[in-house]
Amino acid sequence: MQTIWITGGSSGIGFAVAQKFLEENWRVIISSRNEDKLKKAVEKLKNKTSKKEIFYKACDVSKYNDVKDTVAYIETDISKIDIALLNAAAYSPNRTQEFDIENYNLLIEVNLNGTINCIDVLKNYMKDRNNLISVVSSPVGFRGMPTAGAYGMTKAAQLNLVESLYFDFKKLKINISVINPGFIDTESTKLNSFKMPLLKPPSYAANKIFKGLTGKYKFEIYFPFVVVFAVKIMRFLPLKIYSFIWRKLGNF
Ligand SMILES: NC(=O)c1ccc[n+]([C@@H]2O[C@H](COP(=O)([O-])OP(=O)(O)OC[C@H]3O[C@@H](n4cnc5c(N)ncnc54)[C@H](OP(=O)(O)O)[C@@H]3O)[C@@H](O)[C@H]2O)c1
Repeated sequence: MQTIWITGGSSGIGFAVAQKFLEENWRVIISSRNEDKLKKAVEKLKNKTSKKEIFYKACDVSKYNDVKDTVAYIETDISKIDIALLNAAAYSPNRTQEFDIENYNLLIEVNLNGTINCIDVLKNYMKDRNNLISVVSSPVGFRGMPTAGAYGMTKAAQLNLVESLYFDFKKLKINISVINPGFIDTESTKLNSFKMPLLKPPSYAANKIFKGLTGKYKFEIYFPFVVVFAVKIMRFLPLKIYSFIWRKLGNF
């Protein structure tokens, strides 16, 4: 039986991915900050799947010692990690479009420092195993979008980080990949103030992520194709056309 550790596994995409991997007979460990939420998520997953190989460990990814203790606990008391899905994130769109330094600092702490904390600890366990670390980024990182300065900056940085580590981690025999989901209906996206084309349920994301992570190695997993490919193309549009699109989607 193979093992996946999912950060931010108590809700949204992480929870749906946990369910999918359990259904496919993987051993699953979910982490997030709130222990009560994690306990409830584990009960729900046991009821939904009738599987027992589901564990939890509270872990704030922005705290290095939490990450160190969690990975040590999983690797020594449960199992070696075959896939680490670094999915935890803070999301707080700045609807007023006012520059809020506290929000920038929070998102850097969780999305960026949280990711590098996990990678730093995991690399010591996972080296020479040809296992996989996959980071959930976002197409929001492809090009600056209104209200998303702080969030988009951290997602762009995650993408750049994985692009770089792809080369460096080859030497450690650790595979690394990135996941760029389109709009998925979770607590986070309920905070958005603009229309979200092709909004999909978390189960859709979970199926795509399962297929992408367990099939032949792919550097980037993205879905739905139409939405994410359109955002990829938007990177190259002249600013006038790019602004026009945003005026159509919201009051920007
Ligand atoms: N939903 C989308 O449309 C979409 C699109 C593109 C990319 N993404 C990415 O997909 C991932 C999951 O997003 P989601 O929409 O499923 O979000 P979500 O439903 O809000 O879930 C976020 C999860 O992260 C956990 N979390 C937050 N801060 C944490 C911290 N400091 N340490 C550990 N866990 C923490 C939360 O639990 P606690 O609060 O209990 O810690 C929760 O389990 C994120 O990386 C997001 O950027 C989402």
